[in-house]
Amino acid sequence: MTEVRGPAKVISFINMKGGVGKTTLTKEIGYFLASRRNKRILFIDLDPQSNLTQSFFRKYNYSQEDLLEVEEEHSGFINSGDTRVSVKKNYTNASIHKLFTPGKVSDLSKDDCILNLNDNISIIPGTLKSVFSERNSSIENHLYNYVNNHKLKEEYDYIFIDCPPTYSNYTIAALITSDFYITPTRPDSYSVLGIDMLDQVVKQIKDHHQVYFTGRELKALGVVFTDLQQPNTGIQKLKTKIIQSSKIKDLGIRFFDRSFVYNSHLPKQAEYFITDSMSNTIEELTIIVDEFERRVKE
Ligand SMILES: Nc1ncnc2c1ncn2[C@@H]1O[C@H](COP(=O)(O)OP(=O)(O)OP(=O)(O)O)[C@@H](O)[C@H]1O
Ligand SMILES: [Mg+2]
Repeated sequence: MTEVRGPAKVISFINMKGGVGKTTLTKEIGYFLASRRNKRILFIDLDPQSNLTQSFFRKYNYSQEDLLEVEEEHSGFINSGDTRVSVKKNYTNASIHKLFTPGKVSDLSKDDCILNLNDNISIIPGTLKSVFSERNSSIENHLYNYVNNHKLKEEYDYIFIDCPPTYSNYTIAALITSDFYITPTRPDSYSVLGIDMLDQVVKQIKDHHQVYFTGRELKALGVVFTDLQQPNTGIQKLKTKIIQSSKIKDLGIRFFDRSFVYNSHLPKQAEYFITDSMSNTIEELTIIVDEFERRVKE
């Protein structure tokens, strides 16, 4: 029997700008909550680039069925000195692809889409062959319906959605399913523009899809600055300028107290997770997670 949890809070990690740390923050906050706070998390990889899926698959030694033939040719063995050591991969055919294929969502089982990686971590993997139409509005409610049909909120503490950087039907699918959204932002001179644009998109989606927001809200958790390069004094000044800009104040945008600090391992190793590392950036991550949990409970 499945242990009763939740009701899960559904949270979209979103910014319609690319390369601002959405995927990294989704993975690091979620993994920290699962492994240090004993929370059950369902990750949903909505980005056709599938970077979140690749990170978790590397860590837990998974691959997708679709890649089976290709990988059998290339792997199965690794060279370790003179001896070839067999590495056994686990294969799954769970994927988000089925969820967004036009058809009946009610026919889909949990196993069709969800892969359980351990007691606390599950994922709806993105698929590398995902070439599904981004211009098919009939798929917008599929994720919402799937979460409801399987009462997924009762099984998890958090459902984290890693959103793609471009506006599409997936953006709508993510936001109509979400209770909150959080906005990773790289501090640069275009940040205010990006935050403003997202604010408008959220308002528009709430307006066009009112039926999903009766009796529930879609709240902004705030902006988290992500330091994708070594921070310097110029960056600190820029952050202050952004926070204090009149546009941001007018919109009532909140910011997290701490930035997601620079960590040189992140861009190099997909299977690297701060929580399992010896990095002192764990302390900084802990402060972000504390603030994250506080804001969700407010
Ligand atoms: N704190 C950090 N320190 C150093 N590098 C980072 C940090 N956070 C993210 N990165 C790196 O910055 C790059 C962009 O991050 P990420 O993929 O998370 O952004 P994204 O917003 O999801 O991008 P996309 O829009 O393409 O989905 C990646 O190479 C990632 O490893
Ligand atoms: Mg991403």
